[in-house]
Amino acid sequence: MTSETFASPEDLNTAFLVDQYGTYERLHKIGPIHRVKTSDGVHAWFVTSYAEVRRLIGDRRLVRRRTDAEGAHYALPAPPPLTSSVLCQDPPAHTRLRKHMNKAFSVARVDAMTPRIQEVATGLADDLERGTVVDFMAEFAAPLPITVIAEVLGIPETDRHGLRTWGDQILSMDPAQMQQGGAQMNQFLMALMAEKRANPGDDIWSEWMATPDGGGAPLSTEELLGMGYIVLLGGYDPSARAIGSCVLALLSDPAKMELLRDNMELIPRAVEEFLRLYSSNHSATPRFATESIDVAEVTIEAGDVVLLSIAAADRDPAQFGTPNAAEFEGPNGRHIAFGLGPHYCPGAELSRRQVAISLETIIRRLPDLRLAAPPADIDLRESYFIRTPNVLPVICP
Ligand code: HEM
Repeated sequence: MTSETFASPEDLNTAFLVDQYGTYERLHKIGPIHRVKTSDGVHAWFVTSYAEVRRLIGDRRLVRRRTDAEGAHYALPAPPPLTSSVLCQDPPAHTRLRKHMNKAFSVARVDAMTPRIQEVATGLADDLERGTVVDFMAEFAAPLPITVIAEVLGIPETDRHGLRTWGDQILSMDPAQMQQGGAQMNQFLMALMAEKRANPGDDIWSEWMATPDGGGAPLSTEELLGMGYIVLLGGYDPSARAIGSCVLALLSDPAKMELLRDNMELIPRAVEEFLRLYSSNHSATPRFATESIDVAEVTIEAGDVVLLSIAAADRDPAQFGTPNAAEFEGPNGRHIAFGLGPHYCPGAELSRRQVAISLETIIRRLPDLRLAAPPADIDLRESYFIRTPNVLPVICP
C-alpha cells in the first residue's frame, strides 16, 4: 500500500459516486489503509480491511474530540450540538452521556416498544395507497422510525412535521442547508426542553432532564441538546435508510423475496445481511490519532485524521464468504454495521427490531408490492458517508 492508491487524493468522493462497491473491491486488493482527500478537502487515512477496522475502532489512541489530539485540525462539518454530543466525545464525558443513552435504549425498553412498532408498521402498510405509484421512503421507511423516536422522546404528533426535513438538511453535507436545518432543530429542541421542564411526561426526554437516580449532576442544556440531536438524527435517518435499502434489495431480487416469504424464520438473518451490505456507513465518525500507530507498512502520525470504513470492512472478502451478496443461510461472518467498542450504536437493538418488523409486515400485508422503476434508475443519495434511496417508487396493485 502506498499513498498513491487513488490517482489523486480527490478521487475518494468521485470514485464512490461512480462505483462505490467496485472501489472497495479495488481497495481490498491494494491493501488495508489508503491516503485520501475527502470532498470537504481533508487529507485522511481511509482504513478498509475488516481486521484493521475492527482493531482500530475501539483503539483508545484514536479519539473523537479534535482538541484531545494535539495537531488535529479537521472540524466535523456538522452543527455544534452534534459535535458536542456523545458521538464526538471521549471519556470521561462520553462515559457519563453513554449511561443515559444505554438506559434509554436497553433491550428491555425495546421489548416494551415492540407492540407499538408493530402497530405503527401495520397502520402504514394498510394505509399505503393501492394501484398507484407511491414513494416508499416517504410513506413507510421514514414515518415508521420518526414516529417511534418521536414517541420515545415524548414529541407530540402535531410537532413532528419538521423533523424529517431538518434531519435531511443536517445530513446533506451542504453547509448552507446544514446551518438552516441545524438552527431549526435547535429552536425546536429548546422549545421542547422548556415544555418538558414545565410538564414532565413519561418519556425519555423528561427522564434525561431529571436528576439522575442515585444523585449526580443533571445533564446541562448543552448536553441535552446534543442528546436530542443525536437521538433524533440517529433514531430516524439510518433506520429509514436501512428499511428502504432492505426493501429495494428484496424487490430487486424476486428469488430472495420468495425464499423469505416461504421461510419467515430467515428474516433475522436477512436483516443482518442487509445491514451489512447496505447500512454500514462508508466512513465511521472521523477519529484523530493521539500518538503514532502502525497499520501494515504505514505509520499514522499523531494529529492525523482516520476514517474507518465500516462499509468496506463489511464487504471484505477475507472475512465474508459472499462479500457482495446477501447470504440467508450458512455462515457468512459477523458484520460491524453498528460499530464496536465504546461508541457501539446504542440504537442497534431498536433498529434491528424496526427493520425486521418492516420486512415481516410487508411480506404479510403487501405481498404484491413491486418496484415501479428499474433498480438501476432508483435515485440514490450518495456521499463518502452514506448511500441510500432518496425516493423509492413502488406500486401495490
Ligand atoms: C440501521 C440503523 C443504524 C445504524 C447502521 C447505526 C450505525 C451506527 C454506528 C456505526 C455508530 C458508531 C459510529 C462510530 O463509531 O463512529 C453509531 C453510533 C450511534 N448511534 Fe447508531 N445506527 C443506527 C441506528 C440508530 C438508532 C435507532 C439510534 C437511536 C436510538 C442511534 C443512535 C446512535 C448514537 C447516539 C450513537 C453514538 C454512540 C456513541 O458515540 O457512543 N443509532 N450508530
